[in-house]
Amino acid sequence: MAEAKTYAVLTSGGDSPGMNCAIRAIARTLISMGHQCVGIRRGYSGLLEEDFMPLTISAVGNIIQHGGTILRTSRCPEFTKAIYRKKAHEILKKFHIDGLIVIGGDGSFKGAFEFFQEHQFPIIGIPGTIDNDISGTEYTIGYDTAVQTGIEAVDRIRDTALSHDRVFMIEVMGRNSSALALKVGLCTGAEYVISPSEEVPYDIIKERIERGIRRGKNSSIFIVAEGKTAGRTYSIQDNLHKNFNIDAHVCILGHIQRGGSPTSNDRSIATLMGHLAAQEICHFTEPKAAVVINGKTTLTHLSNCLQKTSGKDHDLLNIISQLSI
Ligand code: F6P
Repeated sequence: MAEAKTYAVLTSGGDSPGMNCAIRAIARTLISMGHQCVGIRRGYSGLLEEDFMPLTISAVGNIIQHGGTILRTSRCPEFTKAIYRKKAHEILKKFHIDGLIVIGGDGSFKGAFEFFQEHQFPIIGIPGTIDNDISGTEYTIGYDTAVQTGIEAVDRIRDTALSHDRVFMIEVMGRNSSALALKVGLCTGAEYVISPSEEVPYDIIKERIERGIRRGKNSSIFIVAEGKTAGRTYSIQDNLHKNFNIDAHVCILGHIQRGGSPTSNDRSIATLMGHLAAQEICHFTEPKAAVVINGKTTLTHLSNCLQKTSGKDHDLLNIISQLSI
C-alpha cells in the first residue's frame, strides 16, 4: 500500500449548493485510499489563520443534503499577494499537508494557480459557483439548484402578477454572468432577460408590455441579472415610471438563490467531481480541475479555468423573445 498522506480541502468565494457533496466525496475517497483529509475553514483566510479541522468519515456524514458549506467560506483579498501565498505555503508544510483541493470560482482558481506556480504545491480545483461562469467547464456546482430556486420563485410571482394584471421585474443573481437569468427566463416564459453588462433596453421592455396588452395579456415578467450593483432593478423601475408611465413591481431574489438543498444534478456532479479530484491529488502531476466537458466529468489543466465567462447566449435570448409573442 502507498504511503499514507494528508490532503486538505477548502471552499472559497460565494458558497453554492452541492459543495458539501464534493467535500464528502473528497474525504471519503481519500480515506478509502488509506490517506487522511483535513478541512480548512473559511477558505484562504482560514488557511492563513491555521483554522483546520479533521474530516473523518463521520465528520462528512449527513451533509450530502445540505446547502452551504460545512467548511464555511470567505473572499480573501490577501491571497492575491505573493507574500501571503508564501505564508500559506509555510503553514501547509508545517502541518505536513501534501496537497490541496480548492472548491470555488475563477478568483479562487487564479489564487490557486499562482500558488502552484510559485511553490509547485500539488493543487486541484473543483468549480463551485451558482453563476456557471468559469471557462473550461460546462458546469459549476450549485447552478442547477439556483436555477430551480429561481424558477419556483418566478412561478409564484406569476400567480399574483396574473391575478392583479401587473408587470414584474425580477432580479436574479449574476454579477457578471447572464447564465442564471437566461435559464430562469427560459424556464418561466419571461418576456425578456436583461443581462448584467447590457444597457437597459427600455424600448424593448415598453414594446413587450404593449404587445402583450394588444393581445389581452395584462401581466408581464422580466428577468434582470443583478450585475455590479445588487438592487439595480429599483432604478429600472424608477425610469420606467418617469419616462414611460409604466408601473412595474420589483422582486429581488438575492441570496435566497444561494441556499437550499442541492438538486440531484448538483449532488451527482459534485460527488463525481470530488471523487475525481481526490484520486487525482494522490497521483499529482500538474494542476488540474475536475470539470464537465461534453456532459462528462473529467479533468482539464487548471490554466483552462481561470477566465470568467459571460453566460451571454444570444440564441437563447432570441428564443425567449420569440416565444413571448
Ligand atoms: O456566488 C456568486 C454570486 O452569488 C453572484 O451571483 C453575486 O453577484 C455575488 O456572488 C454576491 O456575492 P456576495 O454574497 O458576496 O454579496
